[in-house]
Amino acid sequence: MKKLIIILFQVSLLLLSPITSSAEEADNIESQSSDHRIDIRLNETQRTFILGHMRHMLETLTAIQQELLVDNPSEVHQLVTYMQENTQKAHPKMLGQSLPDPFKQMGRQMNQHWRNLSVGSNDKVYIQKEVVNVMTTCNSCHAVYQIHGAIE
Ligand code: HEC
Repeated sequence: MKKLIIILFQVSLLLLSPITSSAEEADNIESQSSDHRIDIRLNETQRTFILGHMRHMLETLTAIQQELLVDNPSEVHQLVTYMQENTQKAHPKMLGQSLPDPFKQMGRQMNQHWRNLSVGSNDKVYIQKEVVNVMTTCNSCHAVYQIHGAIE
């Protein structure tokens, strides 16, 4: 009987071991962090502005798709102009100094495509192409940078 209990105990240990080791692995991965994107250090005002601008861009891209679906390409120009004006108004002073050059370069590249969308073309294929160009720069930048908490 004693032997049986010991065997049962050993078997249960064996069964449990893969669970404990995978839990340890998960802990390790979390502490090492598999996110290797560059962290941009911003103060609270800058961070709030940039993330707000990001959300507004996503909303604008959604609204553009909605207008194209109901065959209203002429609305695109207004949606983009509204976003651009809003961004200019809320832009914190000296923000550029806190951003790395390659980040700003990607931003400029993206803005060129937003400008192409704001000129008022009614050509749906052209609009779709520029939307893809804009979204390609969204993705390139997101792959490289992150914004952690604010520094102040
Ligand atoms: C030049 C770099 C850059 C470009 C271009 C860019 N983003 Fe971002 N975006 C970021 C960074 C950095 C973050 C923070 C991500 C993080 O910390 O994980 C972010 C966050 C976001 C968020 C989350 C906002 C929040 O409230 O947390 C959204 C939505 C977003 N971006 C949408 C877009 C869209 C849509 C585009 C293109 C039209 C775009 N971004 C272009 C750098 C960029």
